[in-house]
Amino acid sequence: MKITSFEEYHQIYKHSLDQPEEFWAGVADTFQWRKKWDKVLDWNFTEPKVRWFDGAKLNITENCLDRHLDAIGDKPAIIWEPNDPTEDHRVLTYKQLHVKVCEFANVLKNNGAQKGDRICIYMPMVPELAIALLACARIGAIHSVVFGGFSAQSIADRIQDASCNIVITADGGFRGAKDIPLKNVIDDALVQCPSVKKVIVLTRTHTPVSMIKGRDVWWEDEIKKVETQGNTACEAEEMDAEDMLFILYTSGSTGKPKGVVHTCGGYMVYAGYTFDTTFQYQPEEIFFCTADIGWITGHSYIVYGPLSQGATSLMFEGIPTWPDAGRFWDVVDKHKVNILYTAPTAIRSLMSFGEEPLKGKDLSSLTKLGSVGEPINEEAWHWFDEKIGHGNCPIADTWWQTENGGHMITPIVGVTPLKPGYASFPLPGIQPVLVDEKGEEIHGNGVSGNLCIKYPWPGILRTTYGDHERCRQTYFATYPNMYFTGDGCLRDEDGYYRITGRVDDVLNVSGHRIGTAEVENAINMHATVVESAVVGYPHDIKGQGVYAFVVSPDKHENEDLTRKDIIMTVSRIIGPIAKPDKIQFVSGLPKTRSGKIMRRILRKIAEGDTSNLGDTSTLLDPGVVEEIKGGAL
Ligand code: PRX
Repeated sequence: MKITSFEEYHQIYKHSLDQPEEFWAGVADTFQWRKKWDKVLDWNFTEPKVRWFDGAKLNITENCLDRHLDAIGDKPAIIWEPNDPTEDHRVLTYKQLHVKVCEFANVLKNNGAQKGDRICIYMPMVPELAIALLACARIGAIHSVVFGGFSAQSIADRIQDASCNIVITADGGFRGAKDIPLKNVIDDALVQCPSVKKVIVLTRTHTPVSMIKGRDVWWEDEIKKVETQGNTACEAEEMDAEDMLFILYTSGSTGKPKGVVHTCGGYMVYAGYTFDTTFQYQPEEIFFCTADIGWITGHSYIVYGPLSQGATSLMFEGIPTWPDAGRFWDVVDKHKVNILYTAPTAIRSLMSFGEEPLKGKDLSSLTKLGSVGEPINEEAWHWFDEKIGHGNCPIADTWWQTENGGHMITPIVGVTPLKPGYASFPLPGIQPVLVDEKGEEIHGNGVSGNLCIKYPWPGILRTTYGDHERCRQTYFATYPNMYFTGDGCLRDEDGYYRITGRVDDVLNVSGHRIGTAEVENAINMHATVVESAVVGYPHDIKGQGVYAFVVSPDKHENEDLTRKDIIMTVSRIIGPIAKPDKIQFVSGLPKTRSGKIMRRILRKIAEGDTSNLGDTSTLLDPGVVEEIKGGAL
């Protein structure tokens, strides 16, 4: 939606409050439907039940590919920049991407995939990853992408939870100087996954892999088969708007990640609408989202959002600091990127290298910037603004979540007057509210509270896979008739929203969501650990670091060895992304008489703020606090 002024934003916003269904029907009209909906919205937040565009028929890939072929078929859909700057980049036009998606959709069918099947994708950031997602969507299979930084155990848990029958992977993946042996990890995972009948393996790193007869097939061989069969066209499956499009697992305050479910119609409308609106995308612009497709940001802003709008999406395989800390700027310079959408953690990391890596890099193509994943501190905001945007690129600090499908509260670039550190205002159609502990709505400005949303939007999660009650409990039970985000938030005197961080036991480490309970479960699996408590602490680059207090009476006399073993255990159970940054051995944890760990105290100690630990009189053994304070790292 193109919006030309802040006044116009207010008008549109008001209309979206007054006539929400009319508003969303207008947005949905800009997409291609095989059949339009019978009812725009049917909802209640008590079950919860949310159905958007009921009765409508579509296929999201017709919106992302087919509908663009006549007008912009030769426009680059995906520009891919490899990890190694000496390797050639690749460009896939809309026509080429369409062909590749259809071919791979037929590969999936040849390997037994059917509408409604769950397919796990564990791949490096290569165009075939986007092709795999779209091919699943083409035939109505439900993809469940698992980020490459998760372990075999985490993959197995996710495959089992969704009973996936097919896995799409690669021999390995390049990330900076490392080769990640993806297929080996999958092999380890599949020992526990009898539901998986086929594994399709793309060649990327030429790492030797074991290929099991009858189960494992090479991507390239399968493509050749469909080509020799002349079976390269693939009619898109007709989907109901409320059919599942994908599952994406995310962490919460319990030990087990949950499969957030998004549906074909609502998610498509929301990803496309938010991409177009927030960034005010213009037809010639090159959009570079630096996220991994393993996260929701990559789903919505590398694949579905940009492609549904006929944009050019730049996909980067590598990391910002390899071969050196100028890599992002090389990519921007080389491909003349116009819109750069990245994460505060990446900005802070690059900032720490000073200005040297920026020398000789032409960033003048940039006109718009975006940030996502965690609160952006003012120092990082100003550096991004001045050094990267040269003071003339608006920054969209986009607040949203896996469960939201797309941006919720964000400046609209060129429209919303900016305030550093503020996600600013809700997009038209989004109704945020702040509530106090009792669940009362807090009105007016200059107030803080827990952030809830009181009316559905098309991208809201529909359920958590296989466990609807968990969805209700997690998001809709804390406050009646509201979706609870888990975030704390300030609304300042001017009505600007500023997200202050999670109010539950969820950490945000380098923009990745990690449940403390999950990390504790993993630590507790180590042979010498009796008990543990994990909290976050402020980390210069990562935003939050993982601080573990561990009770391990039989640890090795060389404590560091046990520390390393515990880190290895977490790596095995969850994945390298959840590794604790600090492990403090303690003789006991501060608990109330009812046995509840007082995390508030641990959080303060981890933050290095022990001046006022508050009331400790309810503790079973107040003495333990002194010991923990004394040993803080
Ligand atoms: O705490 C908020 C933080 O990230 C959480 C959502 O994490 P995830 O589902 O992994 O999605 C990340 C990418 C959308 C939120 O509950 N968060 C995300 N964006 C921002 C943010 N916090 C502050 N400002 C943001 N712009």
